[in-house]
Amino acid sequence: MSTVLITGANKGIGLELARQLSARGDDVIACCRNPAAATDLNKLDKARVVVKEVHVGDADSVAKLKSDLGDRPIDVLINNAGAAGPAPQNQSALQMDYDGWMDTFAINTMAPLRMVQTFHGNLKAGTNAKAVTITSQMGALDLNMPVMYAYCSSKAAVNKVMRMLSTELAKDGVAVTLIHPGWVKTDMGGAGADITAQESAAGIISVVDGVSVESTGRFYKWNGEGHAW
Ligand SMILES: NC(=O)c1ccc[n+]([C@@H]2O[C@H](COP(=O)([O-])OP(=O)(O)OC[C@H]3O[C@@H](n4cnc5c(N)ncnc54)[C@H](OP(=O)(O)O)[C@@H]3O)[C@@H](O)[C@H]2O)c1
Repeated sequence: MSTVLITGANKGIGLELARQLSARGDDVIACCRNPAAATDLNKLDKARVVVKEVHVGDADSVAKLKSDLGDRPIDVLINNAGAAGPAPQNQSALQMDYDGWMDTFAINTMAPLRMVQTFHGNLKAGTNAKAVTITSQMGALDLNMPVMYAYCSSKAAVNKVMRMLSTELAKDGVAVTLIHPGWVKTDMGGAGADITAQESAAGIISVVDGVSVESTGRFYKWNGEGHAW
């Protein structure tokens, strides 16, 4: 049994991670922006799932979560919350919503590092501790698909940040991992995507279970295959 903190747990992949992890007996700290409105999350087993508020792009909100959780050991931190950024036509080669790009970076790139920094002590106190970030194939430099400039660059940047962090946190026994969840049928992925949130979450959990500090700093697909950087 592990203690797992998940961001963006009110819907999509995050909700499904909370559902599957709690069903197998893990303790889940399920974080979302608006707990009162998180209807599906609030239906999960209250003996296993505690719902907490966090706006990952807001330093004060993350600090409030930390003061609420105190020194409670965390075995797995899953940075799942993410944003697609401005409308596609406003994050393209010749047109960019620069404020929207900054917001996208705040949520997809800076927030995962802020979460790991804030809960570093909690992770160090955990068992086989892991800091996992749900990234995207769209952040891979190898993928030559010139769309969604803000989103793709924010995921490429978080890949680099987490890769660097993996080297530094190994000495604390904390593994750092990046996972592409697949193209998933959620509000972000759309109804025409390849796989369900259930399939994606099951794959992610299996990948996370297999991660250790010996295999830190890797970029995986949801099905356990390695992903090109
Ligand atoms: N779906 C796909 O095909 C796909 C593919 C590759 C990568 N991903 C990645 O997978 C992760 C989960 O995506 P999803 O498909 O489950 O999308 P989703 O259904 O749109 O859910 C996104 C989650 O992130 C939360 N969030 C957004 N901004 C936030 C903020 N500032 N503070 C706190 N929470 C915030 C949302 O909360 P609210 O409900 O309050 O907005 C929601 O819980 C994301 O990192 C995404 O980039 C998804």
